[in-house]
Amino acid sequence: MALMPIITAPDPRLKVRSEAVGTVDDAVRKLLDDMLASMYAAPGIGLSAIQVGVTKRVIVTDVAADDEPRAPLFLVNPRIVRFSDDMALYNEGCLSLPEHYAEIERPEGITVEYLDRDGAPRSLDAGGLLSRCIQHEMDHLDGILFVDHLSAIKRNMILRKLVKARRQKASA
Ligand code: NI
Repeated sequence: MALMPIITAPDPRLKVRSEAVGTVDDAVRKLLDDMLASMYAAPGIGLSAIQVGVTKRVIVTDVAADDEPRAPLFLVNPRIVRFSDDMALYNEGCLSLPEHYAEIERPEGITVEYLDRDGAPRSLDAGGLLSRCIQHEMDHLDGILFVDHLSAIKRNMILRKLVKARRQKASA
């Protein structure tokens, strides 16, 4: 497995809409495995392919707590077919917006249909952190970052800080 560098905002690649996967073949499985390894190394609980520069509708998650066994989930071409009526607030972060967090409101529960690592169709009812994570990662597939759910003032403040941090890192 190869670790893939994670793209950080602002970067035009993060605004790209990803394309559906035709067949879950060995190349897609290698992408999924490399993404999972990169997510664990970061460390994070979710990663979309566009965050490693691949414009495919593919996400990986693992929301297991540190003291629980790993529970990786691979979702290819995910599609949300149900949103709950009740909404929830959560302080979201993102590997592409390192060290920034914001309260984002989203539906609490979802039903998501997707293809698994073997290409088999699956349906999953998710709530809590898993639902949150899948919705966040699926936003990435449409070029949406969590800051896009904030006001322009808050969004620009975070993006400016990221540019500044990157400049400082480059000159360090
Ligand atoms: Ni993210």
